[in-house]
Amino acid sequence: MVISSKTSDSSLPTIGASLSTADKVSRDQLRKMIRSTRKSLSTIEQSQASLNACQRMLDELKAKKVQHVALYLTHDGELATPPLIEALWQLGIQTYLPRLHPFNAGQLVFMHYTVDTPMQPNQFGILEPKLDVRAVMPIERLDVVITPLVAFDLMGNRMGMGGGYYDRTLANWQQKGKPLPMGYAHDCQQVASLPCEHWDVPLPFIITPSRVLTF
Ligand SMILES: Nc1ncnc2c1ncn2[C@@H]1O[C@H](COP(=O)(O)OP(=O)(O)OP(=O)(O)O)[C@@H](O)[C@H]1O
Ligand SMILES: [Mg+2]
Repeated sequence: MVISSKTSDSSLPTIGASLSTADKVSRDQLRKMIRSTRKSLSTIEQSQASLNACQRMLDELKAKKVQHVALYLTHDGELATPPLIEALWQLGIQTYLPRLHPFNAGQLVFMHYTVDTPMQPNQFGILEPKLDVRAVMPIERLDVVITPLVAFDLMGNRMGMGGGYYDRTLANWQQKGKPLPMGYAHDCQQVASLPCEHWDVPLPFIITPSRVLTF
């Protein structure tokens, strides 16, 4: 692993086999804990974090000369994406948002996202583009998928909201070489160690307001 700036994990929560049963925190308990921590960041902390992370992400995306980037709209205290979306639009980089697949439960469809895209809330209350087949982008044509997450560790393991949507979307990315998954999260979402299941897709990049981690 390479970390581009200093880090410390001494006071981070740890879950998994290395802990005694008494200390063991379930995946759902950990989700609850981290979601509450990130939601408790102040508006100023949230906006400073999103600007700092945006700059780091832009540097990475420019270096990779990407053209097609999927990302997410902020929900539930996630690291805010509006500054990043605005900056990508300024650079002429095309942006895409996931929406729930209309027929295949558990799957996502990625749709071109512009300032004019009609939006609607989905069953989870998350805004997503209205379905329009002309705007659908095949996953293998995306260069990067910037994934939201609930928790990550210093092995690149990722825990999401529990739907398995990104695990399904990214299940074959390594065989195809695309799209490159990049986690985007607050520093406070780091934990010492996450338990992983065989379906969990680890992240080769995680960007936080203070660091770029590569694995
Ligand atoms: N590639 C896959 N194919 C089929 N089912 C999957 C796949 N990946 C994950 N799942 C299922 O999705 C469920 C949720 O997985 P998990 O708890 O890892 O979600 P998550 O990583 O937190 O969510 P997300 O990927 O949406 O951020 C699990 O029960 C798992 O069986
Ligand atoms: Mg998972």
